[in-house]
Amino acid sequence: MKRFPAHILIFSISLWFHNAEIMAQQNKIDKQIDDLLQRMTLEEKVGQMNQYNGFWDATGPAPQGGNAAVKYEHLKKGWVGAMLNVTGTEEVRKLQKLVVEESRLGIPLLFGYDVIHGYKTLAPIPLAEAASWDMEAIENSARIAAIEASSVGLNWTFAPMVDISRDPRWGRVMEGGGEDTYLGGQIAKARVKGFQGEDLSAPNTIAACAKHFAAYGFAEAGKEYNTVDIGTSTLFNTVLPTFKAAVDADVKSVMNGFNILNGIPVTGDAFLQREVLKEKWALQGLVVSDWASIAELVPHGFAEDMKHAAELGAKAGSDMEMESGSYVAHLVSNVKEGKVKESLIDDAVRRILRVKFELGLFDDPYKYCDSAREKEKLYHPDHKEAVLEMAKKSIVLLKNENNILPLAKNQGKIAVIGELADDTNSPLGSWRLGSDNNTAVSFLEGLKAYSQDFKYAPGPKVFNKDANFLQEVEVNATDTSGMEEAVALAKESDVVLMVLGEHGFQSGEARSRTNLNLPGLQLDLLKAVHEVNPNIVLIVMNGRPLTITWEAENVPAILETWQLGTQTGNAIAEVLFGDYNPSGKLPMTFPRSVGQIPIYYNHFNTGRPNLEPNVFWSHYSDEQNTPLFPFGYGLSYTQFEYSDLEIDSSDQSAIKVNVTVKNSGSVAGEEVVQLYIRDKVASVTRPVKELKGFKKILLEAGDSQKIAFTLTDAELGFFDHNYEFVVEPGMFEVMIGTNSQDVLRQSFEKR
Ligand code: GLC
Repeated sequence: MKRFPAHILIFSISLWFHNAEIMAQQNKIDKQIDDLLQRMTLEEKVGQMNQYNGFWDATGPAPQGGNAAVKYEHLKKGWVGAMLNVTGTEEVRKLQKLVVEESRLGIPLLFGYDVIHGYKTLAPIPLAEAASWDMEAIENSARIAAIEASSVGLNWTFAPMVDISRDPRWGRVMEGGGEDTYLGGQIAKARVKGFQGEDLSAPNTIAACAKHFAAYGFAEAGKEYNTVDIGTSTLFNTVLPTFKAAVDADVKSVMNGFNILNGIPVTGDAFLQREVLKEKWALQGLVVSDWASIAELVPHGFAEDMKHAAELGAKAGSDMEMESGSYVAHLVSNVKEGKVKESLIDDAVRRILRVKFELGLFDDPYKYCDSAREKEKLYHPDHKEAVLEMAKKSIVLLKNENNILPLAKNQGKIAVIGELADDTNSPLGSWRLGSDNNTAVSFLEGLKAYSQDFKYAPGPKVFNKDANFLQEVEVNATDTSGMEEAVALAKESDVVLMVLGEHGFQSGEARSRTNLNLPGLQLDLLKAVHEVNPNIVLIVMNGRPLTITWEAENVPAILETWQLGTQTGNAIAEVLFGDYNPSGKLPMTFPRSVGQIPIYYNHFNTGRPNLEPNVFWSHYSDEQNTPLFPFGYGLSYTQFEYSDLEIDSSDQSAIKVNVTVKNSGSVAGEEVVQLYIRDKVASVTRPVKELKGFKKILLEAGDSQKIAFTLTDAELGFFDHNYEFVVEPGMFEVMIGTNSQDVLRQSFEKR
C-alpha cells in the first residue's frame, strides 16, 4: 500500500473532519428550516420576502399614520423579513425586539446597508481599490468595513458590486472592479471573503451581496438605468463569470438590477435567476431585488400591474422584494389563485431563513447590538492605518517626465492650485452614506506633513461643493474669478501641484456624463497655469476614467488618485514625496475621446484590424485607435525589465510559463506582472488578449525574480453559445508584461 507522508495524512484527516462538521451544521440548519417552515402561515412566509426601508428614528415613538405606520404594523405581524438603512445598535435592537417579541414566530430581521467601501472609516472607492491589484489588501478593506458595519447592528451589506463595465460615461464604474472579467472575479472573491470572514456566525462578519445580476454595466451609451442588449458570448464570457466567482466564494445573496437584458427585465428573468444562478451554479443564498425593481416591471412594460409584477418577480426567482411592497400586498392572493406555486414561496423563504440561521440570528437576535463595541470600533486607529495603506496602493502614476517625481523634501516654492485640494468631502466618493461629511484628510492637510513652504490658490469655483447624494452637481462654466490669483501664484513658484477632477457626486448611481473632460473651467485653469509655469504635477481626483488628453500631452507628471476615502491627503503626500513608490495599474482603459467609447483592451481583432495606407480598415478618420492609457498601465519611481519568457507545454493539463523580472532602477518597487493569452483560432472568435493571471511582487533595486504561472483548461477555455465551457485545440499566444500593451510574446500548441 502506498504510504502517505504523515503531514499529508494529518491534513487530509483534518480536512475530512472539517467538511464533515460543515455538512453536519448544514443538515442541522436544514432541519431547523423545515421545522420552522411547517409552522409558518402563507402570510408569514410572504412576509419574509418583504424588505422595507428604514423610515423613522426607531428610538423615538411609534410612527402614527402614513406608510411608516403600515410598515410598523407589518413588523409586528411578522410580515417583514429585512430592513435596509436602519443603523445604530439602539435603533436596530428596538426593531429586532419588536419583531422577535411581538410577532407570532419571532423570526429575526436581516439589517442591510450599502457598505460599499467602508462604513465610517472609508477606504478608496472600489475602482481605486481595483487599481491596487492587491487581493489581500482588498479583502482586508472589506473585513474592516464588516467590522464597523456589524458594530452598528448591520448583518448584511449590498456589496460587492461586480458589474463589468467598459463605459466610463456610466457613473457606477466607480463602484466596481473595472473592465476585466478575470481581475473582477478575483476582486469579487476577495471582497466576499472579507465581508463574510471565516465564520458567518461571528458578530463581526456580515452577509455579502453580489450585484447587480446581470449586465447592468452594459447600459447603452452609459446612460443610467438604460437598456442592455448584448450577445450571448459577451454575457457568458464577460458578464457572468464575476458573479460565478462570488457564488463560488459562497456569497450569501445576489441582487438583481434595474435593466432589461435582451428584452427581459433581469428582475423577471427566470433563465438568469433560476436556470443559471440557482440551478447551474447552485446558489444557496437569496436573491434580493434592487430598490423597487419588482414594481418597475410595470413601467418596463413587462407586468400589467403590481399584482402581476409580484407574480412575475416571484416566479423568476426574486426571493426578496426591496421596498416596493408588491409581494406583501399580492403574493398571498397570487398563490391562492394558483398563479404562483407555494413551492416557489417555500424555496424563497428557505433561502432567506438559511442566511438568518447561518448568521446565528436565531441563537442570538441581538448579537450585533453591542453599544460598547459600536463605540470602540468606529474610526478605530487600526482601520485608519489600513485604509491609508489601501489608498497608497490604489494610486496610479500615469506620467513622470524627467522624473519630476518624487518631490524633494526641500522642493522650493510650491504652489497648490485647485478647489479639490481643500475638499474634505469629494474624496470620500459617492457611496459614503454611513460615514460623516468632511472626514477625509484633504490634500492640503496631507501636504502639511511634508512641507509648510507652500501657498494655495483655489482658482475658479468648480462646483457646488455641498451638493448631496440626492442633488445634481452644478458645475461653474462661466465665472473665472480666482483665475488670475492662481496664475500669479504659479508664476512665482518652482513647482505647481494642481488638484483637479470630479465632485464626489459626479460619479456613482444616477451620475452618467456625456463629457468626460475635467469639469467646468479646470482645463482652462490648467492651460493658463501651464502658460506661465509648465512645471506641473497634476493630481486627478475622479470616480471614472476621464479624457485627460491635453493634460497627458502637456503636463510632465500625472497621478491618478481616484477618490481615496478617509486618508486621501496622507496617501497622496506619501506618494508625492516618495515615501511610497506608486504601484497601481489601471483597471479600466482611459479613452482619448468620448467618441471612442466603448474602448477596452480585450477587444476582437475584426476582419480588418489594420490595412493602412488604404482607408478600408477598422478605424476612425478623426481619432487614433489606441487608448490614452491602456488597461493594466501604471508607472513606478523605478523601472522593471522583462526577459526570458519560457513556456513548457509538455504537461497539457498544466502549461508552465516563466518570465524573469528585474528592478533595473535605483529604488525598491512593487510590480504587477500580468499574463495575457490569445486563442488564435476558435469556433467563437476570441479577443486579441485576455488577462488570465497576475502577480504583484516587491523587488529591491537591482534584484531579479523568476515569476511562474500555470495555465490550465480553466484559463484556456471559453463559453460557447450554448453556455457550455469548451477548450479547443490549436495555437495560443502568451503575453506577459507590465501592462496590456508592453508585453513579451511566445506561443504554444494546445493539443
Ligand atoms: C440602489 C442601488 C443598489 C443599492 C440599493 C439599496 O438603487 O442600485 O446598488 O444596493 O438601491 O440602496
